[in-house]
Amino acid sequence: MKKECLEIVRQKCENCKACALSASRTNTVFADGNPEMARLVLIGEAPGEIEDECGRPFVGRAGQLLDEFLAEAGISRDNDLYIINTVKCRPPENRVPTPEEQAACRKFLDAQIDIIKPQAIILCGATALKTFVETDRKRTISKLRGQWLTITVDGVEYPAITIFHPSYLLRNHSMEEGSPRRLMQQDLKEIKNKYLPDRNIENIFAGSHDMAMV
Ligand code: URA
Repeated sequence: MKKECLEIVRQKCENCKACALSASRTNTVFADGNPEMARLVLIGEAPGEIEDECGRPFVGRAGQLLDEFLAEAGISRDNDLYIINTVKCRPPENRVPTPEEQAACRKFLDAQIDIIKPQAIILCGATALKTFVETDRKRTISKLRGQWLTITVDGVEYPAITIFHPSYLLRNHSMEEGSPRRLMQQDLKEIKNKYLPDRNIENIFAGSHDMAMV
């Protein structure tokens, strides 16, 4: 049922020409994951080059690192998450989408959340955070990351947590206590324990990964 509703939105998205990003896209990047099973929606920033080529979110280097963190925390990308971005077309040179581009795409983002009605939302990075939460110099991503907030989408309240964006972690390799990678592990573990306590970690994490190598 959710799948059918999302398909209608996806088709509208594919034909969308509401902002200039539509002119340079190869593919719209609508979503990834299992809409019927996913308890959580993860929202990233915008598609990059590989995502634009494949039409799937988080499949480039940042996506691969995200996959490793998810697997290590015992979260199944394929079953537990519905993964989307604040905009569905790639901004040139991977720049941050403008407020106008985000506004043009907002109807798709809201419709996706409204159809999935997740138990919680994961805001992945500063752009996703700022889409839903007012930030200022005192309320930066560093301050708000790891905190549970309530966000409202189409009149429905959802618990939401902000995590670091994996692109940031690609530039920060330290695994020391308090480092961004350690905080990412901590946040994902908390999400898993809160919303997926019944998931068996052994089924998801196959083999040993040294994330400091990525
Ligand atoms: N790929 C995505 O799909 N989204 C991001 O935010 C970054 C990379």
